[in-house]
Amino acid sequence: MVGKNEQQLSSEEIFALEDKYGCRNYAPVPVALSRGEGVFVWDVEGKKYYDFLSAYSAVNQGHCHPRIIAALKAQADKLTLVSRAFYSDQLGNYEKFMTDLLGFDRLLPMNTGVEGGESACKIARRWAYDVKKVPDGQAKIIFAEGNFWGRTLSAVSASSDPSCYQGFGPYMPGFELIPYNDIDALEKALQDPNVAAFMVEPIQGEAGTIIPDDGYLRKVRQLCTQHNVLWIADEVQTGLGRTGKLLAVDHEGVKPDILILGKALSGGVLPVSAVLASNSVMDVIKPGTHGSTYGGNPLACAVAMEAVKVLLEEKLCENAERLGKVLVEELNKIPKNKITTVRGRGLMCAIVVHDSIPAYNVCLRLRDAGLLTKTTHGQTIRLAPPLVITEQQIREGANIIRQVLDSYDK
Ligand SMILES: Cc1ncc(COP(=O)(O)O)c(C=O)c1O
Repeated sequence: MVGKNEQQLSSEEIFALEDKYGCRNYAPVPVALSRGEGVFVWDVEGKKYYDFLSAYSAVNQGHCHPRIIAALKAQADKLTLVSRAFYSDQLGNYEKFMTDLLGFDRLLPMNTGVEGGESACKIARRWAYDVKKVPDGQAKIIFAEGNFWGRTLSAVSASSDPSCYQGFGPYMPGFELIPYNDIDALEKALQDPNVAAFMVEPIQGEAGTIIPDDGYLRKVRQLCTQHNVLWIADEVQTGLGRTGKLLAVDHEGVKPDILILGKALSGGVLPVSAVLASNSVMDVIKPGTHGSTYGGNPLACAVAMEAVKVLLEEKLCENAERLGKVLVEELNKIPKNKITTVRGRGLMCAIVVHDSIPAYNVCLRLRDAGLLTKTTHGQTIRLAPPLVITEQQIREGANIIRQVLDSYDK
């Protein structure tokens, strides 16, 4: 029997299909999307929404950016994958472009963000043994509580969130946690001569857009240098314009030893991640010691290069910086009995909804009012629209949020 054409399924039918046949590892907001353009997405019934989540900052350039889609199509017609068994005409160009742009010597291409984190940890361990001369098997990596860098066994071993790690042991040895934004704790942890690296998000995303004190990153840089420890900056979410600068570390004018990028590196088109480092760090990886079939594939390289050019040429960092301020200013006008806290840097924003209002229910009412986003932990709701948003659209979005919160009086 010929199945019903997917295009004709209603939202309810789509929810039911996933619920019956999919692994239930997510609890999506009930909305079934079939089209996106710029800051907007449409559901299968044709209703239009502002996207204030941007696929967790993967769609910084806006949905289906015409230049990125054109690059995808052009490259797809020529060559998509050769594996790293052979050279392609795309990878070296892309690596040169990215290392020149960001001031690193070398780039390791991977696919997902979590693979970027895994790769950074592998590089740091190898560097600890080969360069720092840590005794074999003793290398440690320090992480900050509240971190989120994905779902592999290493990533969950580094997590302080029981819903991420509980029931998935045994865990990766050699991982330690210290509080975020706590320089004294870092200084203490770095006394151990076996520490290879400190891996940290410049702003914690999944934890609820937690912005550390001014000067934290500068102090991290200084302490890691002083103790001969690699600083790994996980900029998978904060990187590529989201916070109003190309990198979030740029706000403090510091440079990590290892930088991890992902998400917006392809503008939401393909899973593309990258690890960047200097020669002295990256050169610990030799042929045969690390790799990925799809990492550095020509399609990903062409898409990533165009996605980053779009960010730069359309001045999306500057737009994020300017409109982030407008968004925070508008959100701060909402009474404190509705929103207790507004956090934001660039267009990486979050609100904490008053305890009397159920945050998930706010997301449902926002959906009904034409704006999509999701809670993170507890009462926190993320607000991170594509960086191509205009001032008028930001004000309209803020207005929808205010009206929805007003509706809790009635
Ligand atoms: C800071 C950070 N690092 C890493 C990841 C993992 O990326 P991916 O889901 O592509 O594996 C995420 C995902 O949300 C993230 O926010």
